[in-house]
Amino acid sequence: MIPLNSNFESKPVGLDVEKIRKDFPILDTQVSGRQLVYLDNAATTHKPVAVIERMKKYYESENSNIHRGVHFLSQLATKEYESAREKIRGFINAGSTREVIITRGATDSINLVAQSFGRKFIGAGDEIIISEMEHHANIVPWQMLCESTGAVLRYIPINDNGELILEKFDVLLNSRTKLVSVTRCSNALGTINPVEYIIEKSHQQGTPVLIDGSQSIQHGTIDVQKLDADFFVFSGHKLYGPTGTGVLYGKEKYLREMPPYQGGGDMILNVSMEKTTYNDLPYKFEAGTPNIAGVIGLGAAIDYINSIGMDLISAHEKELTRYALTGLSSIWQVILIGEPKNRAPVFSFILEGIHPHDIGTILDFEGIAIRAGHHCAQPVMERYCIPATARASFAVYNTFEEIDKLVLGIRRVLEVFS
Ligand code: ALA
Repeated sequence: MIPLNSNFESKPVGLDVEKIRKDFPILDTQVSGRQLVYLDNAATTHKPVAVIERMKKYYESENSNIHRGVHFLSQLATKEYESAREKIRGFINAGSTREVIITRGATDSINLVAQSFGRKFIGAGDEIIISEMEHHANIVPWQMLCESTGAVLRYIPINDNGELILEKFDVLLNSRTKLVSVTRCSNALGTINPVEYIIEKSHQQGTPVLIDGSQSIQHGTIDVQKLDADFFVFSGHKLYGPTGTGVLYGKEKYLREMPPYQGGGDMILNVSMEKTTYNDLPYKFEAGTPNIAGVIGLGAAIDYINSIGMDLISAHEKELTRYALTGLSSIWQVILIGEPKNRAPVFSFILEGIHPHDIGTILDFEGIAIRAGHHCAQPVMERYCIPATARASFAVYNTFEEIDKLVLGIRRVLEVFS
């Protein structure tokens, strides 16, 4: 296919996308007689064969419960599960696996911090700062905490380009602020936030910071020690891993002081009828049998990403971002919601007079999968006075040709509605 945008000068990044695409069997799916063009990666990414096969292997030859058995399979499953934790630790460069809590996803991780750290350290009159561009998962747990404690939730506003207004953050931050919780990248706008600044400013007055890495973890390297985040959360399924897996990184000095979030098996040292003593980190926060196959699959996803190299993935996605920007701007009717200087490969847009659900449905006839809706970020929609947007989001396996198809698909939507 000849690129629509022949003026675009791509910088070769040395990533063999066609080879990578072969690792993802689902990309061969036909939709309405056409080859699937999957551009809903901010919702979830597809899984490479390496992940699928690893989980199959677990169920075929390793399945057992972990941390409990003296028998062969239980010890094998435990070893593989803990090896996945070590891979996660290395991937985010946490100082120790004691700081790597395995959860069901980013939502679960944030709820854990809200209920455990929040209930212990945040009280009536205290303040929590989040931003107007948060996913509901980084809003509702804090609203629930505020309702039960009498704490107050403050929002960093966003400008018309979809960027945080940092001067307002400087004013909001004060001695009553007990926690700042912001996303590194907005799922609804694509904005990459200057979280380094937010962390540094907050630390100047001793306030810990939680970073929601759900939409950034798949696009670039992360070093939680260098970033100096106090808590960092993400979901496995946005990182080419299985659903139902997630991570809470937390500095040990906080995790040690935090009470357990849920009670049950595995998080205890001893239970008598009168009293329970809790397990050490990280197990104190991991009650019940986890998604063992999923976590081992997440370890395989990390191996897969490392085998490609995150730098190459980022470079390829930056090219896709530049190309998508030129393609989308070639259609004057496309109104981008969010035009930040620093953006991830996530584009929200509207077409005057056409509901995003209609855009999504017509594109689906063309085999193109995007997301249409409020993206679990209703305050962003409120900010722009719109009910919803159409959103195209890219991953390592997307190509320039697929962006061309998106651009042609949008032209088709405009024709249908003309
Ligand atoms: N949070 C996911 C999204 O942005 C589901 O689509």
